[in-house]
Amino acid sequence: MLTPQPTQGDTAWFVHDRFGMFIHWGLYSLAARHEWVQSREKIPPDEYQARYFPRFDPQRYDPREWARLARQAGMKYAVITAKHHEGFCLWDSQFTDFKATNTPAGRDLLAPFVEAFRAEGLRVGFYYSLLDWHHPDFTIDVYHPLRDHPAAARLNRGRKMTRYAEYVRNQVAELLTRFQPDILWCDFSYPNKTYKNFPGKGRKDWESEKLHALIRELSPRILLNNRLDLPPELADVHTPEQVQPTEWVRVDGRPVVWEACQTFSGSWGYHRDEESWKSPGQLIRMLINTVACGGNLLMNVGPTALGTFDPRAVAALGVYRDWMALHADSIYGCTQSDFPAPQDCRLTQNGNRLYVHIYAWPFRALILRGLGERVEYARFLHDGSEVQIRPPVWEAEQLSLRPDDLVLWLPVKQPDVIVPVIELTLKDARP
Ligand code: GLC
Repeated sequence: MLTPQPTQGDTAWFVHDRFGMFIHWGLYSLAARHEWVQSREKIPPDEYQARYFPRFDPQRYDPREWARLARQAGMKYAVITAKHHEGFCLWDSQFTDFKATNTPAGRDLLAPFVEAFRAEGLRVGFYYSLLDWHHPDFTIDVYHPLRDHPAAARLNRGRKMTRYAEYVRNQVAELLTRFQPDILWCDFSYPNKTYKNFPGKGRKDWESEKLHALIRELSPRILLNNRLDLPPELADVHTPEQVQPTEWVRVDGRPVVWEACQTFSGSWGYHRDEESWKSPGQLIRMLINTVACGGNLLMNVGPTALGTFDPRAVAALGVYRDWMALHADSIYGCTQSDFPAPQDCRLTQNGNRLYVHIYAWPFRALILRGLGERVEYARFLHDGSEVQIRPPVWEAEQLSLRPDDLVLWLPVKQPDVIVPVIELTLKDARP
């Protein structure tokens, strides 16, 4: 079993819980066409604020409902965008007026979120954008909505990133001391991404070393991700995004604690007209594939301007709810197995329990090489029914088996679950 080097944050609960909810919610939810709408459409900050800020009024926002849906889906933690690239803050920050408190919402929206999710037994984390297209000291660069404005270079002359970096430290300190989150998910650095004469942004712009020291001082056990442009060993969690790793994620050759973040559709923020919603099979297989390689899955919901999860998101969460209700044992506390997986299957393992996730239903015999005498008992997780580990004699004679083959003798029909899972109780967990 691969075991990453310990880092400063407390990853023990994280690598057990495996499955979290990402939530992207802000003024961009009103535009309803991706959280980068301001950059993509080059909407100047004052125009963006004038259009959406006075209309941000999520009258149906009920974080207890969000938390219930997350818990039922089998998610054990949630990371919400306290501030995304637009610079709008969901909490009552003392360092800006560009916050939910000053919109028709009229209140801090983060506090009830934290309370509701903790009440449902979930841990909470904050996504905090290092980019800030609203802040007057954030210099115009490759992603900024004003990047093609004729006066962009002149505007930058009055902007001071040192003041912005202090603003970031003040806000992060505010979030950590006021809410004590379990995760801080900073996003993102692009030191080599130049545009015209505008440089990219990385550790020197964020003053990442100072920010990192502050975070560790205020919250020694917090989980910090890897997007501050700092040496990889200073991160607790590495964060592949919109990709499906097919082996344990390594950095500089060493296995790390990792979490893949993914969307239900093609957008993090609510996108009314985006249709690339993943199928139920894709959703379940993404979770299994991730844990089978020793990682976590952070699956994103983009709530609407009203503060609701749209029906497509609720349906997708229902897919996880129904499968996890029967198969959570093959996810929580599990990690990559050193045993070889049979064709069209994935393995997850928790001590002497080896879970066989069957993606393509075979005809009767599922052969696991090398496990011949290693298994005490086998059962389906969905109904607890025993799975026989010996084929009938006549069939066995036709299968040209090896002495150390384990043969799981399956029903002809696939059980009525998206991915059936067989739990093998091993006599000895060592491969
Ligand atoms: C990318 C997107 C950003 C999103 C993040 C989530 O950085 O640009 O909008 O919040 O991914 O990981």
